Amino acid sequence: MKSPLLSIWATAVFLTFLSQSASGKQCVCELKNLDRPFPMDKLDNIGTVASECNRTITPNQMEEVDVLTLGLQRRLEQLKDSMAVLEKEDDGELYGAVSLRIIELELAEVLELMAKLKGITRSRQQLSQATSSELQNMMKEMLNLEEFDRMQVVKKHRENQRIKRDLAICQHGLQVTPQPPTPARGHCPQGQLVSVSGPRTYALTQYGTSYPYGAWGKDPKPPPGKENMHWLVALTSSNVYANYIRQYSSLTTIVLGVGPTDTVIASSNPTTNTIQGPNVVMYGDALYYGCYYTPSICRFNMTARTVTNVVLPQNSGYNNKYTFGYQEGGYTYTDLDFATDESGVWVMYSTPENFGNIIISKLLTDSPPALGKTWRTSLYKFTASNTFMACGVLYATRFLNKETEEIFYSFDTVTGEERYNLKIQIKKMQTNVQSLNYNPQDRMLYMYSDAYILSYDVIFR
Ligand SMILES: *[C@@H]1O[C@H](CO)[C@@H](O)[C@H](O)[C@H]1NC(C)=O
Ligand SMILES: *[C@@H]1O[C@H](CO)[C@@H](O)[C@H](O)[C@H]1NC(C)=O
Repeated sequence: MKSPLLSIWATAVFLTFLSQSASGKQCVCELKNLDRPFPMDKLDNIGTVASECNRTITPNQMEEVDVLTLGLQRRLEQLKDSMAVLEKEDDGELYGAVSLRIIELELAEVLELMAKLKGITRSRQQLSQATSSELQNMMKEMLNLEEFDRMQVVKKHRENQRIKRDLAICQHGLQVTPQPPTPARGHCPQGQLVSVSGPRTYALTQYGTSYPYGAWGKDPKPPPGKENMHWLVALTSSNVYANYIRQYSSLTTIVLGVGPTDTVIASSNPTTNTIQGPNVVMYGDALYYGCYYTPSICRFNMTARTVTNVVLPQNSGYNNKYTFGYQEGGYTYTDLDFATDESGVWVMYSTPENFGNIIISKLLTDSPPALGKTWRTSLYKFTASNTFMACGVLYATRFLNKETEEIFYSFDTVTGEERYNLKIQIKKMQTNVQSLNYNPQDRMLYMYSDAYILSYDVIFR
């Protein structure tokens, strides 16, 4: 183990932070080499054990339990509310019976969740028992070392770190601090979009790893009774087509893959009215998507189970003509990208007249639906990996590396202002992003990434 940090310990070099000379603009450190022996092998040993521990407990595992527990907590709150309602209903047998049935169903779901949680916790428990005894051993070793530590290597190391921090702050103060890129102004009452949290939920869909293309989310304008519902569309045919929508009663059930309901759009796949491409959205109990092999937008009404079409402007790309791109190529059949924001539904696409650059159109969600106002951007579609809208501003992402996607571009539909210098990072758990959409109701981003579904908080300031 020869990290630079440990080399410093080994030779026991202590830094003494003198001070920032106000006039001279210098950061000074005095180095003293005390060079006395210290049992490095023991320290190395502990380091190795610690790394082992690190490997056995991954953040994913911890997150999974967190998600489950959170979901269960929400369901229990819901159940409590339902019980309260039932207690108030003393005016007739019918209402009571109906509510009782609802509570029965909820209870059954909660029990199912608990069973799943129990299964996961059992396996985690074994893991954590093994780890905790290892941690205890390590702790003992460290205490022994500190005791032995006559020349106070460990203690000094801590101090070194503090001094290094001070030094870094001092140096930072001396540099002409570059202004961080100011975020696009936007028109959110809650402020500007400044960052995106780490993944709040992260799960493989019920399909396993079979379908890398798809989308998921929550209807920002749900009909009564479907407020908690989450939807999932996996492109189950050739990574291009889907002919049904899967819905779950809550975030927890979609994360666990429990009790879905499927609504079929077309009986065969692919055929007329089949979903083509991953970037679909649900809004007002209707699914908006690219129609199979046709330059049209389809709207599938979940209640009436009927499809209405809107023809795209002439020459608009469809059928894998203008796609999003990433490092190794294009995301196939991503010609149309649907988005929801505070004002409703949008669609992004491209045309040869706009040189393959992204075009934004407002989608009027009346009956029948229609295309509204349109904006042409200068963003070449293939340089972006996906887009979403928030408060009337288009945000585009690009592939930075396997762990990070970056929001780098914005287009403000109110002012027409374009920016290419945003640096808002999104932490990924998988390499590719097949769809990304913002939900204005819970202010979260929903991502479909190589068969995994993730959600993130969007942070405004
Ligand atoms: C454990 O993992 C974390 C996060 O990956 C890392 O920052 C830390 O240095 C690791 N610790 C050891 C002892 O390997
Ligand atoms: C869907 O169909 C129902 C029933 O016909 C209707 O009331 C509703 O307005 C439709 N929704 C949309 C978005 O057109």
